[in-house]
Amino acid sequence: MASEPFPPGFFDRADSDTDAAFYGVPRIVTHIDDTAIAAVGALYAELGLDGDVLDLMGSWVSHFTHAPRHLTVLGMNAAELVRNPQATATVVHDLNVEPHLPFDDAAFDAAVCCVSVDYLVRPVEVFRDLARVVRAGGPFVCTFSNRCFPTKAIRGWLAASDTEHGEIVAEYFRQAGGWDEPVIELRTPARYFGDPLWAVWARRR
Ligand SMILES: C[S@@+](CC[C@H](N)C(=O)[O-])C[C@H]1O[C@@H](n2cnc3c(N)ncnc32)[C@H](O)[C@@H]1O
Repeated sequence: MASEPFPPGFFDRADSDTDAAFYGVPRIVTHIDDTAIAAVGALYAELGLDGDVLDLMGSWVSHFTHAPRHLTVLGMNAAELVRNPQATATVVHDLNVEPHLPFDDAAFDAAVCCVSVDYLVRPVEVFRDLARVVRAGGPFVCTFSNRCFPTKAIRGWLAASDTEHGEIVAEYFRQAGGWDEPVIELRTPARYFGDPLWAVWARRR
């Protein structure tokens, strides 16, 4: 992608009301099928995520096959977060109002974000601040499928193909700086008829 890869309107959304209003009602549901959820957990296990881990844009379930020693889950709905059995700390924080993360420098060994990156209107700022809070060598693992709340997803995401979504997230890493070249992978079988699961992840430089 070019150095200015995101055209005007890319980060606009159909619903310009606050995220606090949209996410005010708890949704104790899963957003992808069991195979895709298992693919998320398998990737986290494969990458050996443990220690101090941040689940960004989290809810009542974090998908780890084995919970990290200390898992901080940041999301929009306190009633969802309090039900997350793997969380050891929870934070309600709107990243579209304040992309700066409320954590110390190098506070985490790793960070994850599952099926939510398409809702960020200032993703490069968020990815840049993640590079501040993740320790050198630690990964940020971003996973997504092909479903979303369309009124809350950015227009650039809705207009892109599945393959382009991987490139968009990879470009967030590159534009943010502080990360190694990202890996883009389809983690479910190519001819699978359930929810596909892609991952884009990179290590803190
Ligand atoms: C589709 S759900 C995914 C939840 C969870 N990550 C999972 O895998 O089931 C989208 C999540 O993004 C979070 N979210 C949406 N907008 C946000 C924002 N502006 N700041 C922080 N979190 C946000 C919501 O709290 C919600 O939990």
